[in-house]
Amino acid sequence: MKAAAATVGPRGRKIRRPKPGKSEVKTRDDAWQMVARHVQDRGLRRHMLAVSAAMRAYAERLGQDADYWATVGLLHDFDWEIHPDLDRHPSAGADILRAEGWDEETIRVILSHYTAGTGVAREKPIDFALLACGEITGLIVATTLVKASRNIAEVTPDSLRKKWKDKRFAAGVDREDVVAVTADFSRVCFDGKQELWDHVGHVLAAMQGAAAELELDGRLAA
Ligand SMILES: [Fe+2]
Ligand SMILES: [Fe+2]
Repeated sequence: MKAAAATVGPRGRKIRRPKPGKSEVKTRDDAWQMVARHVQDRGLRRHMLAVSAAMRAYAERLGQDADYWATVGLLHDFDWEIHPDLDRHPSAGADILRAEGWDEETIRVILSHYTAGTGVAREKPIDFALLACGEITGLIVATTLVKASRNIAEVTPDSLRKKWKDKRFAAGVDREDVVAVTADFSRVCFDGKQELWDHVGHVLAAMQGAAAELELDGRLAA
């Protein structure tokens, strides 16, 4: 079922139009309302804001709809505190999204970030970007938070490489998985030419651009 029909708007950008009575056009503000309502953990909010920033940057790089990619990035884990296990997240979140008027395409993208649980495979550039961005933000946040300054402006690709090599650091960041999903993203969106450390650099830059929103601009320094 397709709840949203696409048309071409000003500057050639696609605009999602819901069928009457099916769903409404949603914005990043709507995604933020979902996060504000359903996610209390500061770290999880930061994760989704970081993915949102990275998704926006990649959409701009790839000539895609930046607001939409940022919206999906912000929304993708909204149900984790409701369903804090991979048997239910993100599958069970789909029903909540439907009830809240989110369109089937957005739900499909979100379900594709955990194919093992949802059976929804990544197909489109946005799907590959979502997973590749989601997997690396944890290392960047953790590297920032161990700095006395808590300022992401001081994080460099070199400092991330050092932390990457230390397998005990941010052990929840599965390095092999990051390598695999980054390679998939590169193959689908960059003809295989975007290396892991290019990707890490791009996500770092995007997060540095959103430092205030991520509270990684030094305000958390002791
Ligand atoms: Fe998730
Ligand atoms: Fe995530």
